[in-house]
Amino acid sequence: QIDPTQYIRQIIRNVPDWPKPGVTFRDITPVLQDPRSFRVLIDLFVYRYMGQKLDLVAGVDARGFIVGSVLAYELNLGFVPVRKKGKLPFNTVAEEYSLEYGNASVEMHTDSVRPGQRVLLIDDLIATGGTLLAAARLLQRLGANVVEAAAIIDLPELGGSQAVKDSGLSVYTVCS
Ligand code: PRP
Ligand code: HPA
Repeated sequence: QIDPTQYIRQIIRNVPDWPKPGVTFRDITPVLQDPRSFRVLIDLFVYRYMGQKLDLVAGVDARGFIVGSVLAYELNLGFVPVRKKGKLPFNTVAEEYSLEYGNASVEMHTDSVRPGQRVLLIDDLIATGGTLLAAARLLQRLGANVVEAAAIIDLPELGGSQAVKDSGLSVYTVCS
């Protein structure tokens, strides 16, 4: 008998010293590459969200697109991208967040969400939480109701999931 969370956790690859010395990168590509773990992963999210009142899935550039779009399709929902700055062609709104050195920003199309729509926000990983917090602010500025912020992996020692919870959002992660 396989515990799905354990199964996913053991397939995630820890890459030492990437992108820089001292950082261990949690690489989800093996989970996506293996058809069984890819299905188990998506099904964990499907089981959590099927039957919940949702209108859209918003996925964060870039790995949030992979899980978010498949999940949206499985739940019969639309998908909207939260993109890194300068990638979206139409009218956009932007939110800045801080990185270790300097700032970055995420953007959405102004017409990607209608006021009152119930949105599930998803990414691969929560580190400091800055990315998901900025994405949630964008969605809220557009009038969305962010039902939950979800990710595959939480790095709890960085405090990001707590910060996202402290902002008033519900948070779900598959493993840490
Ligand atoms: C990673 C990850 C999350 C974010 C988490 O993406 O995919 O989006 O960082 O970090 P945070 O919780 O501290 O904000 P990254 O910014 O490296 O961009 P990428 O998708 O282009 O690799
Ligand atoms: N994996 C993916 N994205 C990340 C990580 C990681 O280990 N740390 C910060 N963002």
